[in-house]
Amino acid sequence: MAQIQWSKDFEIGIPVLDKQQHQFLDFINQMDLASQTKDSAITNHVIEGLLLYTITYFELEEELLEKAEYPFLKAHRRVHEVFMKRVSEIRARANKGEDVSTELLDMLKGWLKSHIQREDRDFVEVVKTITESTDAEVSTWWGSRIKQFMQQEL
Ligand SMILES: [Fe+2]
Repeated sequence: MAQIQWSKDFEIGIPVLDKQQHQFLDFINQMDLASQTKDSAITNHVIEGLLLYTITYFELEEELLEKAEYPFLKAHRRVHEVFMKRVSEIRARANKGEDVSTELLDMLKGWLKSHIQREDRDFVEVVKTITESTDAEVSTWWGSRIKQFMQQEL
């Protein structure tokens, strides 16, 4: 598979969220390489990165959806949980020495299509009421939440 290049089409216009989608494309591109070379070190590196991504980023996204009173938060959270569970299961099998590279690559490509490019797009307009809010309390909350998120990433 050709490497996926980041383009404007992926952007939703919320910088911190766009940065995460960019990182997700990096995971796919690394897994594309790993599935061709069968380099388990790359696979393990992506799995560790994904675990951190799912914990810190899903938390941020869900808090934002909660603050924006997104009506489908419960279902959205459930989809995140299922994905996290699948990553953990794949990690357990990789730790036992199984080659999970092709399966993980397919799973990530599926997530990009079904979740990032579809389900996540559904909340964009709603969460912009928070991320672009001029209300002092709301913008202070969002500013400090981003700061906290950036620190978790380090
Ligand atoms: Fe999501």
